[in-house]
Amino acid sequence: TLRVLTGITTTGTPHLGNYAGAIRPAIEASRQPGAESFFFLADYHALIKCDDPARIQRSRLEIAATWLAAGLDTSRVTFYRQSDIPEIPELTWLLTCVTSKGLMNRAHAYKAATDANEAAGEETDAGVTMGLFSYPVLMAADILMFKAHKVPVGRDQVQHIEMARDVAQRFNHLFGAGRELFVLPEAAVEESVATLPGLDGRKMSKSYDNTIPLFEGGAKALKAAVARIVTDSKLPGEPKDPDSSHLVTLFDAFAPVAEREAFRAELRGGLGWGDAKQRFLAVLERDLAPMREQYEALIARPEKIEEVLQEGAAKARAVAAPFLAELREAVGLRRFN
Ligand code: TYM
Repeated sequence: TLRVLTGITTTGTPHLGNYAGAIRPAIEASRQPGAESFFFLADYHALIKCDDPARIQRSRLEIAATWLAAGLDTSRVTFYRQSDIPEIPELTWLLTCVTSKGLMNRAHAYKAATDANEAAGEETDAGVTMGLFSYPVLMAADILMFKAHKVPVGRDQVQHIEMARDVAQRFNHLFGAGRELFVLPEAAVEESVATLPGLDGRKMSKSYDNTIPLFEGGAKALKAAVARIVTDSKLPGEPKDPDSSHLVTLFDAFAPVAEREAFRAELRGGLGWGDAKQRFLAVLERDLAPMREQYEALIARPEKIEEVLQEGAAKARAVAAPFLAELREAVGLRRFN
């Protein structure tokens, strides 16, 4: 069997980047024969970036409803909240004890924070919590706990998965006694959607405030967001350069191959940006409209989602608890009798 695992941090409303970069490829992978999948809400990770409890609670509900609306089949996939699995923070500690600080110093999120501080003439670690610093260790625990082979993610997570491999190798070397305790995970990145651009052409990201939400606000909000995608100022009738337009990159991520070349040809032939956005919206709606209906039905029944997540947590813990017991033994935390 092939173990597939991925998670989404519950700090905001899911957007097209989360969907194309992680949710869609993960669900596809979960449908492959022999795949055994673990998809989860990374709500402990959310605490690192957000101290607004209401926002975290709302985001967990939205992200859960999004996975289910996108077609996650709970009879095949173990679907759970990170914070329902106490074995994960416990494993995080075991891993923390073998993770070199130097490795964490190189993590992108931490480096971005310290670089910004230095540029602003502030103390290097100003505003950096231990949560942010050891973020990749918690993520390694998420992945290693379930012996995941493949981790479908966008490009921004690749470094974290490489760090998880490093930590796993070190742990195996120290405590494996010749056995491979942890599986070495690999990122599965779909090249064409690895970094989906946002409204302004930079990576679509909650932190840049340039996202196109998947379902929140309904069809109206989607339309309004698409209208705000930045284009150049060429008028209808003037030839456009499809290769320099992030609207085209977005279109490609949602249109079947056969429609992509036609769209480019029309732009070269002078299709106006307003019409081009209409085309993109139509392509999106074809995918998202049926899911949106599901989403709205789900989000209106949080108690149903709770039930699903409780079942998922029980399944996940049935895997995590015995493995953690084995790991405790391996490091020397054994009973005396
Ligand atoms: P997060 O919540 O920032 O993003 C969730 C997933 O969406 C992908 N993504 C994108 N892909 C393409 N283009 C974009 N513009 C874009 N924006 C986001 C991300 O790459 C990610 O796959 N640390 C993770 C959550 C996590 C996790 C894990 C993932 C915690 N533990 C274990 C995998 C395995 C994060 O914050 O993703």
